[in-house]
Amino acid sequence: MCGIIGYVGTENAVQKLVTGLEALEYRGYDSAGVAFFENEQLKTVKCRGRIEALRNLLGCELNNAEIYCGIGHTRWATHGEPSDRNSHPHGTENVSIVHNGIIENYVEIKKFLQEKGYIFESETDTETAAKLIDFFYKDNPVDAIREAQKMLRGSFAICAVFKNENNKLFAFRKDNPIIVAPTDAGNFVVSEISAVIKYTKRFRRLEKGEIAVITNDNITILDPDNEPTEISYETVDWDAEAAEKGGFPHFMLKEIYEEPDVVKRTVSENLSNYIPDLSSSGLSDEMLRKAGRIHIVACGTAMHAGLVGKIAIEKLGRVPVSVVLASEFRYQNPILDENDIVIVISQSGETADTLAALRLAKERGIFTLGIVNVMGSAIAREADGVLYTLAGPEIAVASTKAYVVQLAVLYVLALKIGLVREKLSEKDVQAYTRELLEAVPEGISRILKRKEEIREVAKKYKDNKSIFFIGRGMDYAICCEAALKMKEISYIHCESYAAGELKHGTISLVTDGVPVFAFATDHDIIEKTLSNIKETAARGARILIFCGENNPVPENAAEDIIELPQLSELFMPTVTATAAQLLAYYTSVELELDVDKPRNLAKSVTVE
Ligand code: G6P
Repeated sequence: MCGIIGYVGTENAVQKLVTGLEALEYRGYDSAGVAFFENEQLKTVKCRGRIEALRNLLGCELNNAEIYCGIGHTRWATHGEPSDRNSHPHGTENVSIVHNGIIENYVEIKKFLQEKGYIFESETDTETAAKLIDFFYKDNPVDAIREAQKMLRGSFAICAVFKNENNKLFAFRKDNPIIVAPTDAGNFVVSEISAVIKYTKRFRRLEKGEIAVITNDNITILDPDNEPTEISYETVDWDAEAAEKGGFPHFMLKEIYEEPDVVKRTVSENLSNYIPDLSSSGLSDEMLRKAGRIHIVACGTAMHAGLVGKIAIEKLGRVPVSVVLASEFRYQNPILDENDIVIVISQSGETADTLAALRLAKERGIFTLGIVNVMGSAIAREADGVLYTLAGPEIAVASTKAYVVQLAVLYVLALKIGLVREKLSEKDVQAYTRELLEAVPEGISRILKRKEEIREVAKKYKDNKSIFFIGRGMDYAICCEAALKMKEISYIHCESYAAGELKHGTISLVTDGVPVFAFATDHDIIEKTLSNIKETAARGARILIFCGENNPVPENAAEDIIELPQLSELFMPTVTATAAQLLAYYTSVELELDVDKPRNLAKSVTVE
């Protein structure tokens, strides 16, 4: 949610900031802005809209070799509508800041500052933080930040520049991520390393209470007592190409195409002789044996992966599993027993509600396992154990490869639980893991080869106002994700329903010509799903069915049928997901929408 960047170095800062913001744009794209030192003055340029609008607004500053230092921001609006006025940076003539997060007590601070004579220009919480720093600023920025920090409540990551501290950046945080990253031509402060990966792979994550003071040739990180700390850097193993489109028209398509490789990589990383080996995760066999209940907590797509995980774990391991939205879990005083395990799933590892749910479970003394994609993210660091989804950077806002790899990790975990609790033999487990390693990636690759066929289907249904997605069991779990994918990038109203539940209300919405996308890959209940499909057909629905190639449905059951590569029913959600993702992708492409950056959304939701 919001991307921030700061640069101080030997090259033109404005170009560096804008290029970095372009890479961060998926974190929010309601407005963008920069502030930089020009002739020892602080100059701000900002506007509503995307980075492109900001680029157009900037002129010679983009090439001015005399501008060495500045800060930049791309916004996902929380407080105050998207507008020029509400765009960051915010500040006074002395200080300018960019902020990611929410200052919860901004109304109170604003009142306090107004009484001191401050006048506010925007509706943002950020402006209050900037003016609070200004209020405490005499001649020492670090002291001013410390004083302001004592009053600020909420979550934030902030990068600041002070007019009297020419070519110097100050950064600090609470709850939201911010890193410093050194390069040969200066230093960056940035929300995440992927935005500056073409310059460096090394970074140091700022901790709460630390303040980074950064010049062209020096990075000092002060601990809460203002003592400089020894800096040791982390290194990511991504390369610049992995964070760029690599010849695909959109990140989303590129990321879907990576699914076979990343599934293989993640699964093989967690196996030893085809038996799940989760020893690096901190999960012991004993814990898995004793667990009374597993609670899966997550948001959005990650929660939908949890729905598949629940069925797999309950089927293979016979442990009860509940799947709860993180935003609900936090406030429902969850019943947690000491031997329970809480699994939080998060691509970014920074989602505010998921992180809060994790902390709640930890406070109750429950073992927490993070299934996380971004190494070193807050959830990865705070969970008692971590299983990484090795999906690499996911840039498109709509999550695709991360979801499929989350499924793969949950399958490996379910197999491990089945083995440890003696519900499965080693031989059974090895047969499953072989399939996960070989047939699943192969099946996904086969679906990718049929993208034109799926595109034709997308063209047929793209102009509908509403689509219903139905399925039972695993097929219901996957249709929740399929409907989300479609609605987030096509803006078509989509609803997912357990097929058997339709007749209890929703079928009243199925009238002549309304599309129903049915998922019927589970052989055991295909007959039942087919009956539900017929019920909608009888009301005039246009039917598209996804089924396994070995369990075909009658040709006359639907207007369109997508036969999927056949896998064990347990693993069908992997290939089904890829097909559904391609369908959503091409619908969005055919509607000429912004596939990678759908309206109102952000990739990393660091507000509650
Ligand atoms: C946002 C994204 C979704 C994502 C969800 C959870 O809403 O747009 O794609 O599923 O956050 O994110 P996480 O990083 O925790 O998986």
